[in-house]
Amino acid sequence: MGTLCSFAETADAAATGFRLHFYKVFARKEARISFNEKTTNMKTETLETIARKLVAPGKGILAADESSGTIEKRLKSINVPSTEENRRMYREILFTTNGAGEFISGVILFDETIRQKTRDGRSFVEVLEQQGIVPGIKVDKGAKAMANLPGEKITEGLDGLRERLTEYRKLGARFAKWRAVITIGDGIPTRTCIDSNAEALARYAALCQEADLVPIVEPEVLMDGAHTIDRHFEVTHQTLESVFHALSEHRVVLEGMLLKPNMVLSGKDCPQQASVQEVADATVRCMKRVVPAAVPGLVFLSGGQTDLQATEHLNAMNRLSGLPWELSFSFGRALQAPVLKAWKGDSANVAEAQQAFHHRAWCNSKARFGKYTEDMEIAKAAA
Ligand code: 13P
Repeated sequence: MGTLCSFAETADAAATGFRLHFYKVFARKEARISFNEKTTNMKTETLETIARKLVAPGKGILAADESSGTIEKRLKSINVPSTEENRRMYREILFTTNGAGEFISGVILFDETIRQKTRDGRSFVEVLEQQGIVPGIKVDKGAKAMANLPGEKITEGLDGLRERLTEYRKLGARFAKWRAVITIGDGIPTRTCIDSNAEALARYAALCQEADLVPIVEPEVLMDGAHTIDRHFEVTHQTLESVFHALSEHRVVLEGMLLKPNMVLSGKDCPQQASVQEVADATVRCMKRVVPAAVPGLVFLSGGQTDLQATEHLNAMNRLSGLPWELSFSFGRALQAPVLKAWKGDSANVAEAQQAFHHRAWCNSKARFGKYTEDMEIAKAAA
């Protein structure tokens, strides 16, 4: 009996002890959860405010973050040598365009550009802020060939990223960009390429949010090749699925980020080119299947489309109903091609180049409301 009693007592004490231990652990966990929620809410607010500002109605992003190699190609196309001063002059034309802030919400800069100034000594960051434009920064170090996977690329730049983000934030950046590249070809993309790039994008996005920068997550499925629009749909779908899985694993706050996807298109060399309406329908259908509604906006890249095609596609998408996110632009070539063509490296053409930029930004702003029409181009030609 005594033994039984003491066994019962022991069991009871053990149960009490377990309950106490359980409550302690539970209470600690509760405290941790509410602390996490508080800090997350605080951060989410600022990040979400900036993300929403970047996709404000009628506005979109200018991608002016061409790396040294890419800007050299662009300047070469108008026979201008890529010196630091020429690059600076060209970017000054874009950033000082009068009224750009009416249609442009943010500009993505390159490491060199975020440190540059106008001829009259104002920093580019300051100039953009004066226009009501949010400065951003490209932080990846480029897409490099993957070992053992011919034709595929992985984007580098995670080492030392935390420190670089801190510096960019101090220099005035409020958002960042990282571009992953997925190529369609014979037997590619591989699952390894898609998942490795998705993982890098998610690690980048988590670090950005830690540093109080809105991450723009850009997984670009290239339009290069002879693939059909259906194949582009399939690969874009697989890629985005992997990206959102990785973002979730890395606890990225969806409200505080933006997605920069490709539009779903026929490959450049595909004999059967999809119509504007087919592109709009396929792109939105694909996005609806995989992009959570918590993401404030999608800012499409132009990816080698002509400036008019990119505007037409954006316009057609914005005419569709039931869109859970803002559909906007973050164009590089589709905003800059006419500017380069007008400028030609000659200071006598600056006003014309700025007019070309203003006009393209205005057309894309109209496309954000689904109100762009072709005669807007004719109006410009007549002016
Ligand atoms: P394009 O619009 O020229 O594709 O450039 C957008 C961009 O930022 C690519 O990373």
